[in-house]
Amino acid sequence: MLATLIYRSRLNRTLDPSQLAGLVERASLRNAQLHVTGILLFDGDHFLQVLEGPQASVNAVYERIGKDPRHGNVVELLRDFAPRRRFVDRGMVLFDLRVMKPHVVLRAILRFGTLKYKLASNDRVYKFIRTFIASPSTNGGVVRNTSPEQWRFAIKTSPFASDAPLFHEQPCQFAFQPIIEPLRGNISSLEALIRGPNGGSPQEYFSTIAPNKLHEADLASKGWALAMARRLGIGNHKVAINLLPMSLVKIPGAVDILLNHITRNQLNPGQIIVEVTEDEVISGYEEFTWAIRQLRAAGIGLAIDDFGSGFAGLSLLAKFQPDKLKIDRTIVTDIHLHGPKQAIVKAIIDCCAELQITVVAEGVEKVEEWCWLEAVGIQRFQGFLFARPVLNGVSAINWPQRILHKI
Ligand SMILES: Cc1cc2nc3c(=O)[nH]c(=O)nc-3n(C[C@H](O)[C@H](O)[C@H](O)COP(=O)(O)O)c2cc1C
Repeated sequence: MLATLIYRSRLNRTLDPSQLAGLVERASLRNAQLHVTGILLFDGDHFLQVLEGPQASVNAVYERIGKDPRHGNVVELLRDFAPRRRFVDRGMVLFDLRVMKPHVVLRAILRFGTLKYKLASNDRVYKFIRTFIASPSTNGGVVRNTSPEQWRFAIKTSPFASDAPLFHEQPCQFAFQPIIEPLRGNISSLEALIRGPNGGSPQEYFSTIAPNKLHEADLASKGWALAMARRLGIGNHKVAINLLPMSLVKIPGAVDILLNHITRNQLNPGQIIVEVTEDEVISGYEEFTWAIRQLRAAGIGLAIDDFGSGFAGLSLLAKFQPDKLKIDRTIVTDIHLHGPKQAIVKAIIDCCAELQITVVAEGVEKVEEWCWLEAVGIQRFQGFLFARPVLNGVSAINWPQRILHKI
């Protein structure tokens, strides 16, 4: 199958633009040997490259290119398959926008095709090229001020207990993980993640419970989560708890039971955030609406968890606007390398800004991911980069600090 890949990147100061011709000549020969064809656009600062050929060859070439220190901010914009090559016979052709006029480049690219196959102006690959030529610095959404090397991390103990004793009759345990605002040095909340009696997974815990007791056990476990949060010294911080929405629907007086857990632990409803997943909301929306109203009326916050992993997507927000939306780790992972994920996150941010919904990025593990997400305006983060969940406690937090260079 003929694969197509487009990426954009930014020149590093280490490549003198005058050396570009040599680079292109060598790359072109190597590509031809691998039956890879394509074009490279350069505007003096940014590159856009189209690679096409057998999938394994395109992947191998792209992997090498991604490691090349002569450029950085390499972001994949498109990976697709095509019936025919767009750029026949040539390993790689350079279009240097410093010396060629945009309309000349576009015309030349449209003429590239074969008699059998002409590149059409509505071709997606051509549209990427046109956008790049119109505005190379914004094509695919280049984000400025994302410099992971500006940061180092310093571990500081959290204000919470790191290993709180369990209650005598407690049937389950909880691992707590902070959600932080790294640049403000602020812990915005702790998420209580349920674990089995021996620290096992949530699935392990719930599998020991009879199906007809599931919702009862789910609701009761929130009481233990809040009791443990108090033992950790939660103070005025917020606690996020995961709740099956159907527990609120199926258990009579569920919201009152929850409120009772809250007050018994000397917390107030405004400190509690109930997290539900998008699939849970959609599958029982009609029934859940009533429970949502009750939670709202009680002053309890609502968050959509794992947003982007389910089937609903942004259309969910037409039905229901939570206080918080947590972007799923599958979108966050390697976001700095992936144009489609970047476009999705920007759409989520725009939508949430208009609806006054706070965005949280979860599953952040790499400094590059965090830098990219900060640069587009996300302020709250959860993930191993900052703090891992700890059973019955809260770990020390890895805070980023800007490296100040001596002048
Ligand atoms: C913007 C840019 C585009 C590149 N395109 C190609 C290419 O299409 N094919 C290729 O073989 N090398 C290309 N290179 C060079 C590779 O990154 C790498 O230096 C080369 O493949 C030699 O790899 P090696 O040192 O592992 O043998 C490109 C480099 C840059 C900076």
